[in-house]
Amino acid sequence: MKGMQRTHTCGELSPAQVDEKVVLNGWVSSRRDHGGLVFVDLRDRYGVTQVVFSGGDEQMRHLAQSLRQEDVVAVTGVVQPRPADMVNPDMPTGGIELAADGLEILNRSEVLPFQPEQVEGAGEELLLKYRYLHLRLPHMQRNLRLRHEAARATREYLAEHGFLEVETPLLIQTTPEGARDYVVPSRVHKGKFYALPQSPQLYKQTLMIAGVDRYYQLARCLRDEDLRADRQPEHTQIDLEMSFIDQEAVFELVEGMMVEIVARTLGREIPTPFPRISYDDAMEAYGSDKPDLRFAMELVDVSEQAAAGRFQVFSNVVADGGVVKAVVGEGLASLSRKEISAIEEVARKHGAKGLAWMKWNEDGFAGSFIRFFEEKQLRELAEAAGARPGDLVLMVAAPRKVANVALGQVRLELAERLGLRGGDGFEFCWVHRFPLFEKDEETGQWTSMHHMFTMPCEEHLDSMESDPGGVYAQLYDLVCNGMELGSGSIRIHRRDIQERVFAICGISREEAERKFGWFLRALQYGAPPHGGIALGLDRIVTMLVGGRSIREVIAFPKTARATNPLDGAPSPVSPAQLAELGLEIVDSEAEGEKNGIDSA
Ligand code: AMO
Repeated sequence: MKGMQRTHTCGELSPAQVDEKVVLNGWVSSRRDHGGLVFVDLRDRYGVTQVVFSGGDEQMRHLAQSLRQEDVVAVTGVVQPRPADMVNPDMPTGGIELAADGLEILNRSEVLPFQPEQVEGAGEELLLKYRYLHLRLPHMQRNLRLRHEAARATREYLAEHGFLEVETPLLIQTTPEGARDYVVPSRVHKGKFYALPQSPQLYKQTLMIAGVDRYYQLARCLRDEDLRADRQPEHTQIDLEMSFIDQEAVFELVEGMMVEIVARTLGREIPTPFPRISYDDAMEAYGSDKPDLRFAMELVDVSEQAAAGRFQVFSNVVADGGVVKAVVGEGLASLSRKEISAIEEVARKHGAKGLAWMKWNEDGFAGSFIRFFEEKQLRELAEAAGARPGDLVLMVAAPRKVANVALGQVRLELAERLGLRGGDGFEFCWVHRFPLFEKDEETGQWTSMHHMFTMPCEEHLDSMESDPGGVYAQLYDLVCNGMELGSGSIRIHRRDIQERVFAICGISREEAERKFGWFLRALQYGAPPHGGIALGLDRIVTMLVGGRSIREVIAFPKTARATNPLDGAPSPVSPAQLAELGLEIVDSEAEGEKNGIDSA
C-alpha cells in the first residue's frame, strides 16, 4: 500500500477540501458505467464517497470497470465539486466527488452470497454465516457504534458515582437464576464440571461482603434456555451492586444512568423520576408486570355493572369470586366480527374462555350479550369501562389473575391496531413490590419469583412460612415500552433468613450446603445490607436503535437454535479430547434435538 494509505475516511470530504489531493481506502459499494465515465461509491465505517474515473488513463479506467461489489481498493485523486445537478444534499459527502488519478485493488471479493440491499429476504442462517458482510452495512455499523457509546456512557457514569469495575470468574460452581447452566468439563478433575455464569449474582454479593461497597461490570452471562427475539444464549448485563442502600437509591442511580445513556447515544432527554408501579397495580391496570405505558387503555373492573344484567357468564363468575374486567378500544366500534374474533383468539390463547364485546354506536349498543341487559344497564357498563360513543368495549369474565393476563394481551392487540405501539418515544417505569414466591402449578412447590437471594419486605418476615403466597419482596424491574430492561432486588444479608427462603423453595439443607455453602458461610462474617440490579445491555441498545431483535445489536449472535453458522458452533469434539476429559457421548444429536431447544 505504499503511498496509498488513506489521508481521509470515506465520510469526511466536503467542499472545504476542493482541489486537495487525497487518498481514500474502502469497499466498493456500487459501480456505474456511463460510457467513458465510471462512478464508484466507496464505503467505509464513516460514510460513502463518490469516485469518478474519467478520461485520460485508459488502463485505470478498465481496471475501474472490472471492480465488483465489496472489492477493497485504494484510490488517489483530487476533490472536486459535483456538478450542480448531481449534488446530493442527503449525503454528508454529497457536495463533492473524487476525480481519481490512481487505483490499486487491495483485495478482490467473491460474488456475494446475498445482495446487501436485500438482506430482508436473505434468511437468518445465510446472514449469520456471512455476518461480516452484514455488519458492513451502515445501519449495522451504527448499531455497533451506538452499543459502544452506551457502554462507554455506562462506564463513565458509574465510575463518576464511585463504582469499581471488578471482573468475576467465568468458571464457577452454579448460579441461582434458575434457567439452565452451560457446563464445562474439567480435565484435571475428571467427572467434575464448572458452570458458566448465568449472572455474577453471588460474586457481586460476595464483593459487598468483601467491602467493595459499589461494584459494576459489563458482564457476559450464559444461559442454556429457550430463545426468543429478546433472548440469546450469551448476553451482556450492566451488573451492579451497592452496600448500605435501599431500593430508592438503586432507582435514582439507574435513572441517572439511563438519562446519561439516552443523552449520549441519541442526544435526547428523558424525564425522571420514572413512575413507580407496584406489581399488583400493574397487573390490575395493565394485566402485565411489563406494562407498555406509551398508551393508557387501562383495564377496568366492571364486575358490579356486568353482574347487574341477566347474563349468567358474568354473574356466575362474579358470584364465584371472579371478576369481569374491561378494556376500551377508542373509536373501534367499526371493527368487524371477524376482526373481533381474531382478538378473541388472543384472549383465549392467554387463558380466557372467551371475549365479550360491546359496540357503542351512534344509534345505541350492539354486542355479544346485550340482549341480557336493559339499555340503561348497558350505558352504565360502558361508562364504567370508560367508553364513549364510537368505542368498542372488550371484556373477560374469569378469576382475577386470568382476566387480567388475558385482557392485558387484548390491550396490547388493540394498541397494535390503533398504531400506538410504534414511534420512538421511551416510556420507562419501575415495577416493584413483587411477590417473593410463586407456586409451580405442576408440582405445587413454592419457588422464588426472581431469585432466592431477594429480601422479603420487612413486614412479611415473620409470616414467610405460614403464608408464602402473601409475602412481598424488595424486588424491582425496570421496564420501558413493555420490555423488561432490568431486574434487581435488595438482598438477604443474614444467613438465617437465607436458609428459611431456601427451605420454603424446597431446597434441602444438604443441597443448600452443596451448592451455596460457601456463600452461606460468607454471610456469617459481617455481610452488610446490600442490593443492586442488572440491566440487559443488549435490550437497552435494541430499544435505542428501534430494533426488533437483540440479534441486531450483538456482533456475532446465535440463531434461534443456539447455533453460530459463522463458525459452526456447537460442534463435536475429537475422540482424543473426549478421552482426555473422561467423557463418553451416549446421546446422538438427533436425540438431543428432541429434548432440546425449541425453534421458536
Ligand atoms: P435477570 O435474570 O432478570 O436477573 O436478568 C437481568 C436482565 O438481563 C437481561 N437478560 C437477557 N438478555 C438477553 N438474553 C437473555 N437470555 C437474557 N436474560 C436476561 C434482561 C434482564 O432484565 N442476577 C440477576 C440480577 C440482579 O438481581 O441483580 C439477574 O440476572 O434485560
